[in-house]
Order: sequence, then structure tokens, then C-alpha cells
Amino acid sequence: MVAARITVNGKETPISPAPAHTTVLDFLRERGLTGTKEGCAEGECGACSVLVARPGVDRPTDWVAVNACLVPVAALDGQEVVTSEGLATAGGPGAPAVLHPVQEEMAVRGGSQCGYCTPGFICSMASEYYRPGRCAPASPADGPADGPGDSCDTGSGSGSGSEHGPNGFDLHALSGNLCRCTGYRPIRDAAYAVGMPAEDDPLALRREQSPPEPAATAYTQDDSAFLRPGTLADAVRLLRERPGAVVVAGSTDWGVEVNIRSRRADCVVAVDRLPELRALHVGSDHIEIGAAQTLTEIERRLDGAVPLLAELFPQFASRLIRNSATLGGNLGTGSPIGDSPPVLLALEASLVLAGADGEREVPLCDYFTGYRQSVRRPGELIRAVRVPLPLSPVTAFHKIAKRRFDDISSVAVAFALDIEDGTVRKARIGLGGVAATPIRALAAEAALEGEPWTGRTAEAAARVLRDEGTPMDDHRASAAYRSAMLGQSLLKLYARTTEAVSS
Ligand code: FES
Ligand code: FES
Repeated sequence: MVAARITVNGKETPISPAPAHTTVLDFLRERGLTGTKEGCAEGECGACSVLVARPGVDRPTDWVAVNACLVPVAALDGQEVVTSEGLATAGGPGAPAVLHPVQEEMAVRGGSQCGYCTPGFICSMASEYYRPGRCAPASPADGPADGPGDSCDTGSGSGSGSEHGPNGFDLHALSGNLCRCTGYRPIRDAAYAVGMPAEDDPLALRREQSPPEPAATAYTQDDSAFLRPGTLADAVRLLRERPGAVVVAGSTDWGVEVNIRSRRADCVVAVDRLPELRALHVGSDHIEIGAAQTLTEIERRLDGAVPLLAELFPQFASRLIRNSATLGGNLGTGSPIGDSPPVLLALEASLVLAGADGEREVPLCDYFTGYRQSVRRPGELIRAVRVPLPLSPVTAFHKIAKRRFDDISSVAVAFALDIEDGTVRKARIGLGGVAATPIRALAAEAALEGEPWTGRTAEAAARVLRDEGTPMDDHRASAAYRSAMLGQSLLKLYARTTEAVSS
């Protein structure tokens, strides 16, 4: 097996002797690439953002921005990384480096003051700069178009969290980057001023070639191992042999455990590139989403085909997190405040679990058994999420949190209703943050079904909904507030649907 190595700014670098728990951030900084900064070390500030060449949604390769503080460097064995240093082009002898267009715009528009956050902003901006389908500028003077036949896509999904400049730049590409001193207006100005990549831009050209194949990695250092099996069969065999192994996909939980709680796993098994977990298939009676598809990939591939998911994605952490996080990870951790379970419960999703003895399908409403516990057996992996078709036409996802974006929910409520001839034929309501597990609001569903969709019905069901679960007081919200928000969510849904009918 080839020794683990990573290509950083075009230069191949061995990973050894870094310990297996080393993050990409620490690896880069220890090798002098100190443009990549540590702010929070838990995926909330974006100071550590770098670009990784990943399989593209519309082209062979996308340049994807990720939080380097969360990713084990061994997870990038064989992969290509570009840091803020690698975006500028080295000048000739005695000449200064030539800034990358996003660096140039940040500099001339005053987008950087102390500069601590700037390299992270630059990498997130560069990822959006190279996003295939970003709208070409109206004026030819602003730069060459993306290429003949390219369709202009001003969005990164059809959810509500898009805010585009005249150059098609989606400002939410920067939703995971925080700046404490410059203020965001000059940063937005810089983002909205960048043109399109030049025809000879090496990173734009790189998108036309496939990204590196995932290496089957067996990296061991100081008695701890990072293993990347090549197939699902190898993965489940490995997990049977090492039941205590920590399974990672996007590593967004692993990084927090390592950095904040100083956890050191003896063995980490990566499943994010297993082909069996990477499919997305729209069939006649269900949609199957591979558990290791990132949320950004799902968002772009479905392109609004599941409106409830399209409403969820912009509210799920930040673009940087969604570029790594997976549905399998969000369900696998079993958190009662994960954002995807309420939505998937309302969609009546089921999980395909794969183990050494084969596969089984479990309805999500039967999956969670207690706080961070589930029916998933040791050695089993979530292979896919199945969403049955047809979808209910009236849907909404309400996440109640202290910030609109990039926050943890106090309460999350997802609705999926079939309303025919003014009567609620079917109601599915998923809740998060009101019990030890995500739950269905069965009593409120029963209070709606068979009833006319009127204000009186909504108010009666809202009273029932307020009593669902066993909400607690904690630092995010009181139990009383959480209960109140459940009821308000249904009243808000009713108001929206009747507004839509009367307008
Ligand atoms: Fe804050 Fe990585 S250091 S997101
Ligand atoms: Fe100082 Fe952003 S420029 S934190």
C-alpha cells in the first residue's frame, strides 16, 4: 500500500509522522501554512477553511470549501487541498505574488482589517467563485462567461437561504465564516464584485478532470489507526472485527470530540467515499439518498424536488458544514436536536441498514430508542435513506433558534399534510428538541386527520401539539417556550396556507 500522502498547493506531502487524530488544520500549520487559522476549533467560525477537490455535481471536480479543524488529515489521503497561500500565483524573481481575483477584491474593497478571518473567507469565496453554473456577469467587460452551453444557475438549491449578487455569487457560501472586526458589508462587496474565472485559470481547468480516487487507507501511528475500507463489504467486516471503532463520514462530530473534548479513538473508520453509500436515485415510488452524500450534494442534486428538504438545508448549520456533513452522520449520532430527523419523520422516511448479515429497512419512526440510542446494531451502517413518493403537497420546516442561520435549534418542527377538498386527509409532524429522541407528534396528527383545514381545527390541534413530548429547560430555551413554539408553528403553517389561497 502506498504511504499516506496529501497534495497541498500542488506539492505532495507525506502524512506520517502525524498522529492519526491530527486535523488538517494542525497538519497544515505545523508545515508552515499558517494562513489557515484556528478560531473556534469546532466548525463555527470558518477561519480554518480550505479547498478540497471533490467529485463534482455538474462537472468532474468541484472545489469544495471545508472546515480544516474538523477533518482528520488521514481522511484526505491521496486528495488535493488548496489553501489561501496556494490561491495566489507566485511572482517571478523579485516580483510580488499575483493575488487571486477573490483576494484582490477583498484587498481593494477593504474586506480585511485584522486579517484573522480573511484566509478562511478567501477559501469559502473561492469555492463559490468556481461553483459551476454560477451566473455569468451581464457585461462582457466583467470577464469571460463560464463556457458555451453552460446554464446559468443563480442558486445552490431552491431553499430560502440564497442571496445572490449580480455575478450570481450566493452570499450564503460565506454563512460559516465569521468576522469580528471588519464588518460584513465590504466582504459582501468583494463577493459581489468577483468576475468569472479566466479561461486559463488552473483551478477552473482542474474542474474538468476527475478528482483523485479515494485511497484505501490504513494509516497507523502510535497505536491508533485511521482506516478507509474500499467497499461496503470490507467496511462491515472491519466493523465486526473492531466494534469499538468510531465511524466517520464528514467528521463534523469527530472534529469537535477531538478538539474540544480531547477524545482519542483507537480506531477511526471512514465511510464517506464508499460507492454503496454515495448513490442518489429517484424512482417511481421512492427517492433513495446515499447516507454518505453530503448535504450540499443532496441539495444540488435534488434541486428542490423535495420541498421540505429544500427548506431544511439552508437552515442546517452553514455551507461549510453542509459541504461535509451527511444524512447518515446526522442520523447515526442520534442527537435529539439534529435538524434532519424531524424533516425525515414528516416525510415518513426509512433507513436502509447494512451489516455483515445483509440489509434491512427500518422506518425512521422506529429507529430511535433512547437518548443517542437506536435499533442500529453494532457493526451496522446506515447505507441509505428512503423517502416514499408521492410527497405530501403541504409542507413546512420551522427551526426555532437564537439565530436564523448557523445555529443549533431549540425546537424544530416539520409538517407534511395532504389536504383534499379542504379536509386534512393525512398529517405527519416530526419534532426535534422536545424529547430524548426526535419524535412524531402522533396526537396532533390525529387531531388534524379527517378534520376540515380551518382556523378552528388548527387552533385545536395546536393545543394538542403544545403537549407533545417532554420538553426541558436548558440554556437554549425553557420548556414552556418550547411548548409554546410547537403550537405557534402549526398556527404559522395554517396562516401561510390560507394566505397562499387568498392571494
Ligand atoms: Fe473555527 Fe475551524 S477553527 S471553524
Ligand atoms: Fe478581523 Fe475579520 S478582519 S476578524
